[in-house]
Amino acid sequence: MKKFFPLYYFLFFTFFINAQNLKSPDNNLDLNFSVDENGRATYSLNFYDKPVILKSGLGFILKDNVEWMKIDTLDMINNFKVINVSFDTIDKIWNPVWGEESEIRNNYNEMFIELEQKESQRKINIRFRLFDNSLGFRYEFPLQENLGSFIVIDEKTEFAMADDHTAMWIPGDYDTQEYNYTTSKLSEIKQKSIEFKEENVSMYRFSDWGVQTSLMMKSDNGLYINIHEAALIEYSAMHLEFNSSNMTFESHLTPDSYGNMAYMNAPHNTPWRTVIVSDDARDILASRITYNLNEPSKIEDTSWIKPTKYMGVWWEMITGQSTWWYTNDLSSVRINETNYDELEPNDSHAANNKKVMRYIDFASKHGFDALLVEGWNIGWEDWFDKKKDYVFDFLTPYPDFDIEKLNNYAKEKGISLMMHHETSGAIRNYERHMDEAYSLMNKYGYKSVKSGYVGRIIPAGERHYGQYMVGHYIYAIDKAADYKIMVNAHEAVRPTGVSRTYPNHIGNESARGAEFRGSKLNHTTILPFTRLIGGPMDYTPGIFEMDPRKNTADFSPNLNETLAPGAVTTTLANQLGLYVIMYSPLQMAADLPKNYMRFPDAFQFIKDVALDWDKSVYLEAEPGEYVTIARKEKGTDNWFVGNSNGYNRRNAEVNFSFLDKNKKYTATIYKDTKKTNYATNPQSYKIEKIKVTSKSKIKIPTAEAGGFAISIFAN
Ligand code: NOJ
Ligand code: CA
Repeated sequence: MKKFFPLYYFLFFTFFINAQNLKSPDNNLDLNFSVDENGRATYSLNFYDKPVILKSGLGFILKDNVEWMKIDTLDMINNFKVINVSFDTIDKIWNPVWGEESEIRNNYNEMFIELEQKESQRKINIRFRLFDNSLGFRYEFPLQENLGSFIVIDEKTEFAMADDHTAMWIPGDYDTQEYNYTTSKLSEIKQKSIEFKEENVSMYRFSDWGVQTSLMMKSDNGLYINIHEAALIEYSAMHLEFNSSNMTFESHLTPDSYGNMAYMNAPHNTPWRTVIVSDDARDILASRITYNLNEPSKIEDTSWIKPTKYMGVWWEMITGQSTWWYTNDLSSVRINETNYDELEPNDSHAANNKKVMRYIDFASKHGFDALLVEGWNIGWEDWFDKKKDYVFDFLTPYPDFDIEKLNNYAKEKGISLMMHHETSGAIRNYERHMDEAYSLMNKYGYKSVKSGYVGRIIPAGERHYGQYMVGHYIYAIDKAADYKIMVNAHEAVRPTGVSRTYPNHIGNESARGAEFRGSKLNHTTILPFTRLIGGPMDYTPGIFEMDPRKNTADFSPNLNETLAPGAVTTTLANQLGLYVIMYSPLQMAADLPKNYMRFPDAFQFIKDVALDWDKSVYLEAEPGEYVTIARKEKGTDNWFVGNSNGYNRRNAEVNFSFLDKNKKYTATIYKDTKKTNYATNPQSYKIEKIKVTSKSKIKIPTAEAGGFAISIFAN
């Protein structure tokens, strides 16, 4: 029997399907979806009764991928109607290969909206997932007749802010994230951006209103809001462009040399856009949305992926006491024409047999897993900013670096060498050599590689964060997995949780690390809320000698009266706290062996601290002010606590209720003293041993740019 519906029923149904609602599992987040009067898909998000994202538009400007035909752009913003809506709920536990905890809960309510554009009949689907404290959504282009191979000219995702929040941001840039953070009102971004003068070797700041993600904000009514993305694969990285007239951020993708943002073939999905929100800053750190929105591991046998604690023949080059390059003859040396055997080494080439063996001895004696050696391979005379394709071959050691002997020596001493591949941004050259380079690593027993992308990208016009490079970084990690190699990429795009899919991707720099020195005093109280939302950072902590001038033999003992140029702007105790608060399965003790020998009792913490965790408890957190985290070592009863403090001296509070109620522990506290001053007396610290139980509570004073670390062992 046929059924006939009256017109009003049809209209009601259309209205009904065009407005949808979804709640988080704990009911605290409320997402509203609707199609507005122009047929534009919109969403808004509330945390309890507080608006997080006001009604914000979604959509794209696309182009068919036949550029020579000069076809008009396709407006994929307006004239949509909802053709179907479906819901789902997932609640599962999964076990990461390494991480801040050994079990991650993936619990969300999903709403899947299928949209079709009137007349053109082109389709876009939007998948929303609401977790407790966070929202993720992505666009999915289904297989369809009227949209096949296409170009993203612009993504029009909006994030309308409810107020003029305080934000911690770095300037929008297609090529670097290695900046200090600015804290300002949203409305001040442009002015502060104009005043912001930091330079970097490759930078492209696209606008004075542009900022990068992960962006951390705080509202006057007490909400912490974080915007980022997850699963950035086969697409370009998203920045945010603020429009002060309607207080709205719009997505700003990284273009290629044609100005195109991404090339896609339906069916295809974009990365997820994420919003984490809470009235307690600790929940931002505890959120696992970024990993949960990534695909499970593609690597089946992960037994060879091991958290790694390492030292390096490195800091001495960073602080200018020795060189990566072998000869001083920088003008005449060219990789294809030079017989390095005929050249004399300069006095200070660091990666030489004798020195590397001394470092191996030290790293092995103190229980490290690996030693990074930079400047081992030919090419460094010619590497920097020459925009040259063929700089390194990643295969040929300098004459004073005996690759076989040194690897054997390291092996005898129970550690491995860490490979270094500086690509100087020459991507074709790196990919050309990659198989051979990884094979060489296998031959000599290297387990991990630190790669780097300093300078402009070659081919010219490509950007560090464009789709081309995003593809390259994944290619390098994926291929490394074939050779059972772990990757730590510097200058690559900031992570978006892809380490879940490729757990051999154990590190990234992608922010301003310790090598810069002179960072703002609260830098490491911001990074856990921004850069680390996407995954671990190779921050390279553990600097005990903050004044680089003092590393040279003839330093004057009176130098420490004022802050030295190029000084590390933290206290020594803060450096220890970083091993806990800057989560990474790859941790470096970055300073020179001789500085660790000056402070062996403080060095003990670096030797003791774990790299992999069963559990993390976020004790105190206020972005830009302080962070205190406790973590339980995977598979043991040991706990480690770390703190980093910003501009204001304060008393941190550690409540040990995270400890097992039936056990007694000894805690060793490494802390600032009354006299500690990051500029004039950063090496003043005190070590105290106390007995603690789950009932203990203590206060620990922290200096400006100070901090503390605690190791806790069960008795
Ligand atoms: C920049 C990296 O961040 C640093 O760690 C490395 O030593 C240099 N590039 C040289 O590759
Ligand atoms: Ca760098």
